[in-house]
Amino acid sequence: MATNIVKCLFSIIFFTFIIKGSCVCTFNDIQIGTQRSGREIKGIPEWNVSVINNCVCPQSQIKLLCKGFQTEEPVDPNILSKDGDNCLLINGNTLQAFKSVEFSYAWDPPFLLWPQSSLVGSC
Ligand SMILES: *[C@@H]1O[C@H](CO)[C@@H](O)[C@H](O)[C@H]1NC(C)=O
Repeated sequence: MATNIVKCLFSIIFFTFIIKGSCVCTFNDIQIGTQRSGREIKGIPEWNVSVINNCVCPQSQIKLLCKGFQTEEPVDPNILSKDGDNCLLINGNTLQAFKSVEFSYAWDPPFLLWPQSSLVGSC
């Protein structure tokens, strides 16, 4: 009886690990790196941004918090489109596991961009 309970508990813990191990991605696994490109656009520094899905599952509908974002250099709206304080990445399309999207913009100072939400796909 007691051993059955122990076995049962072990399998619950085991399966919990399997499920967690296969898919624990959240929008917090979206990493955003910004570095100076070294170029200037109309005298304003340009920044290269790379947005990486640093997790094993694909994610779509990726939204970044991009309050006040502006740029002297147009950013392709198919890569980043601003709507209020949010920016939608690649039209809401899927960013596969460990893939990244890059874009450049020009402003001084650079903006702090944060992942805000996403839909996590199955792995
Ligand atoms: C910034 O992005 C441009 C265009 O993609 C690229 O040519 C350049 O090498 C990048 N610079 C840095 C420092 O990553």
